[in-house]
Amino acid sequence: AIDPSFEENREVAEEHEGHEVWGPVEEPETLGIHGTHVAVDFDICLGDGACIDDCPVDVFEWVDTPGHPESELKADPANEDQCIDCMICVDVCPVDAIDVDAG
Ligand code: SF4
Ligand code: F3S
Ligand code: ZN
Repeated sequence: AIDPSFEENREVAEEHEGHEVWGPVEEPETLGIHGTHVAVDFDICLGDGACIDDCPVDVFEWVDTPGHPESELKADPANEDQCIDCMICVDVCPVDAIDVDAG
């Protein structure tokens, strides 16, 4: 499962589509955690898609990740600023790849 303390245990490695990427990042096998308020551990995500189907405000968008050992599609929190903290995505992800900091 995603480390809920990733902000203490990792450092920002880069930016992607306006959000932070928490490293380590070594493409294509290691991709880190995308987003901060809505954080998706790309190294755990296996492209299930339940988060994309169920988020009521369309926070997530698919991104291609060719060569990643878990899956070649990831749910990117492209619109994390729109999150309404409903926690549905956290509940539906089968591998607990998502952390939402509802404060
Ligand atoms: Fe979408 Fe709710 Fe998850 Fe926020 S907590 S990203 S609104 S499903
Ligand atoms: Fe990935 Fe979980 Fe969404 S596996 S696509 S973060 S439901
Ligand atoms: Zn991203």
